[in-house]
Amino acid sequence: MDTNRLSATLEKALNAQMTNEAHNAQIYLAYASWASEKGYDGIANFLFRHANEERTHMMKFLEYILKRGGKVTVTAIPGPGDNPKSVNDCFEKVYTSEVENTRRIYALVDASMAEKDWATYNFMQWFVNEQIEEETLAMDLLSKIKVAGGADAKDTALYALDADLGKKPDDAQLAQDATVENP
Ligand code: FEO
Repeated sequence: MDTNRLSATLEKALNAQMTNEAHNAQIYLAYASWASEKGYDGIANFLFRHANEERTHMMKFLEYILKRGGKVTVTAIPGPGDNPKSVNDCFEKVYTSEVENTRRIYALVDASMAEKDWATYNFMQWFVNEQIEEETLAMDLLSKIKVAGGADAKDTALYALDADLGKKPDDAQLAQDATVENP
């Protein structure tokens, strides 16, 4: 008896989005590592934590596919592309990547609506809301770098920006903060 409640089309699209969230995590990991190498520890910390959030998004898709009786297909994750050339470039790339992710989320909403798969449509609303947060965060980064001088930001301004981002509240913990009691 077939208990898969997802159409082949939506199963494929949800799997693709699961992989895209993993791809987003790779992007944040790469940019965080780049920032750390450049000495921007506050920015690095912020981006590392965000990479963890993207992995949570990936798991949400995986768990949803399984819950609906679908088949999860774990594939290779596309690489993050080139490292940023500057902090300004880094934040612009983050923004571009989040807008692209929103486009993909909206396409999934469209597809679930076209099929009248209201369970998937409802599940996707969490991501619609989450992308508002993600885009706000990316726009906030762009505002900060603009105030710091944009592509021409001087070291002193970047130092202050780095310190500011280091103080941001955390949505996800770093691996090094995990303990045996709280893994
Ligand atoms: Fe999972 Fe940044 O969107």
